[in-house]
Amino acid sequence: MLEALFAPDSVAVVGASANPSKLGYVITDNILKYGYKGRVYPINPNEDKILGIDAYPRITEVPGPVDLAVIAVPSKAVAGVMKDCGEKGVRAAIVITAGFRETGVQGGQMEREVMGIAAEYGIDVLGPNCLGLIDTNSSLNASFAASMPQRGQISFMSQSGALCTGVLDWAAVNHVGFSTFVSLGNKGDLNEVDFIRAWKDDPNTKVVMAYLEGVVDGQAFIEASRELTRVKPFVVVKAGTTSAGSRAVSSHTGTLAGSDTAYDAAFEKAGILRARSVGDLFAYATALAYQPLPKGHRVAIVTNAGGPGIMATDACEKNGLSLVGLSDETVERLRHVLPPAAGFYNPIDVLGDALSDRYEAALRAAFDDKNVDAVIVLLTPQAMTEIGATAQVIVDLAQEYDKPILASFLGGKDVAAGNEIMGKGNVPSYGFPEQAAEALVAMVRYQQWLDTELEEPVRKSADRERASMTLIAAEKAGRLKLNEMEARQIVAAYQIPLPRTQLANSAEQAVHFAEEIGFPVVMKVISPDILHKSDVGGVVVGIRDPKSVRQTYQDILIRSRRYTPDADIWGIAIQEQVEQGKEIIVGVNKDPTFGHMIMLGLGGVYVEVLKDVQFGIAPLTPRQVHAMISRLRSYPLLTGVRGEEGSDIDALEDCLLRVSQMVTDMPAIAELDINPLFVYPDGKGVIAVDARIVVGSNESNPE
Ligand code: COA
Repeated sequence: MLEALFAPDSVAVVGASANPSKLGYVITDNILKYGYKGRVYPINPNEDKILGIDAYPRITEVPGPVDLAVIAVPSKAVAGVMKDCGEKGVRAAIVITAGFRETGVQGGQMEREVMGIAAEYGIDVLGPNCLGLIDTNSSLNASFAASMPQRGQISFMSQSGALCTGVLDWAAVNHVGFSTFVSLGNKGDLNEVDFIRAWKDDPNTKVVMAYLEGVVDGQAFIEASRELTRVKPFVVVKAGTTSAGSRAVSSHTGTLAGSDTAYDAAFEKAGILRARSVGDLFAYATALAYQPLPKGHRVAIVTNAGGPGIMATDACEKNGLSLVGLSDETVERLRHVLPPAAGFYNPIDVLGDALSDRYEAALRAAFDDKNVDAVIVLLTPQAMTEIGATAQVIVDLAQEYDKPILASFLGGKDVAAGNEIMGKGNVPSYGFPEQAAEALVAMVRYQQWLDTELEEPVRKSADRERASMTLIAAEKAGRLKLNEMEARQIVAAYQIPLPRTQLANSAEQAVHFAEEIGFPVVMKVISPDILHKSDVGGVVVGIRDPKSVRQTYQDILIRSRRYTPDADIWGIAIQEQVEQGKEIIVGVNKDPTFGHMIMLGLGGVYVEVLKDVQFGIAPLTPRQVHAMISRLRSYPLLTGVRGEEGSDIDALEDCLLRVSQMVTDMPAIAELDINPLFVYPDGKGVIAVDARIVVGSNESNPE
């Protein structure tokens, strides 16, 4: 897949120039000078030769076939060039040119025109507005980057071209190699999903990394990423996480960035490791690319200084790693090889005057301990410290043992030589101990993801027809906000328990229903025109006898008419007054990128203050639902505190799965609130006391 882009047999540069200050020159030069083996055709209307090779006035005049066209002509000329590419039978194109969608409406039109032509001819297009692409396996540097990265096993895509060049420079200093390097630009045609799919099957790619500002198709992104992460890690830094950042993103590439919560939920669903900064992106990716995955989360730290050891310990424990107790055997062994003042427990302190031999002895003991899954080695440079020799010991041991080791040599100038040795020897080395710990956490999480079997959403029995008929009827009546009876009907169709309710149209009928349901009852006005029933005095609770039912029936009608004289009143609902349970809120809204997001919160009316909520993207699986519930801060309130009986968590899980199925079946649902959902003690189930549903046109939120 995308063979013509990554490893074409021939490349034409349209807009190639003999003038070294032009992009068209730099790109042609980059293709020629880094060892690309295919044929190269500069295209320029005025030159016979560029950089010593034959140039052609139009791509259509090139004698042989052309797989890939790199286009660097002014934006107005791109459409014509794309047509020529189509006529020539070009299979893929990289449009470097800027001045399209990112500049506004006119640019957007121009971009659509160019993409339309490409689609007509079946040309895959990278860009426009991008830096280009580098593939170190085919030695193709079809970009205007200032250098060629060394060959490696990381593939990287970036939505920011400028970031690409910075990353390349950083990678060169840190000996990080790439397999493929892609600047996505405006994603007019090819987007992140195409590359995720291509790299999944690429034997030269071991780790995929991305800098993204938004994704084009949320569900396709999750699906493709889930498949990718089954076979290789995917680390992403998503920019625009704050609202100010999101605004900057919209103006930057014209992408409407989804809300950050949705991204967190999507990444979790797809097994993507989220990096919070570009620094973390590399910290994680290099660890994953160069070191074996740890079998568990037990870590040993070897250090020649106490302070950094404590910092690393804190960072490990904060992130769920365990500073394992070393076995008696290991402690005994350390007593033999280290001076008496050394630290024989974890962290192992080899002391400030340690030479490389002491490091070697301590590291071997740590690696050999069967309680240890991974090692972090720290070094601070003292006068006698053997920086280079210690780095070499670490590199050699990393090759010998099948457990991961991550290093942090603190300092700058003095430790540079050690870092260089480890960089070349594939031992990731970090500026600070916390980074090493966090990179190890990323490795542990990825191993846990691999250990967890993928789960499909389960299907629950439901009366889908009844639910969709209700929805269609409301839509036909032009009502986007469903009234309570309609919302109840839909919730009931998905077999989520509700308080028993009957709609009465007379006081006598109200009494009859109340007797049938059993006292006490709740009475509520039902009208499509009265959404906030309590505000008009339209809800009365605790009605205990037939006389009060009759009286309340009249009172509610009078009050409702007084406040909203023109309201179309459908009747008064007589409802079972249910016992108080633990108050949960289950909500759904539609994220522009990922679709339905399901929210779970605990705390009743305080939910907005406490913000104890969890999100998941539909369709939810049982494990996801379980994780959402157990991650609530107030989860212990559900399991039961101080001898209190635990709540019916199974019923809550079932309810969330049913809500997930409901919104997946009916994409027109834009919002849903079950608030409160009462959860009762174990075995006693849940009841959706109140439900609110808002319908939207398929894609947009009506609010
Ligand atoms: N076919 C072939 N060659 C063409 C052509 C066509 N249809 N139209 C123009 N050319 C040639 C020109 O003659 C010129 O060659 P010359 O130097 O021999 O005269 C060359 O292509 C470039 O055209 P020119 O008009 O000089 O444009 P330019 O080099 O100043 O700018 C871009 C072209 C693409 C670099 C510019 O429009 C642009 O988009 N720059 C921003 C790129 C960017 O930042 N991308 C995003 C990075 S993240």
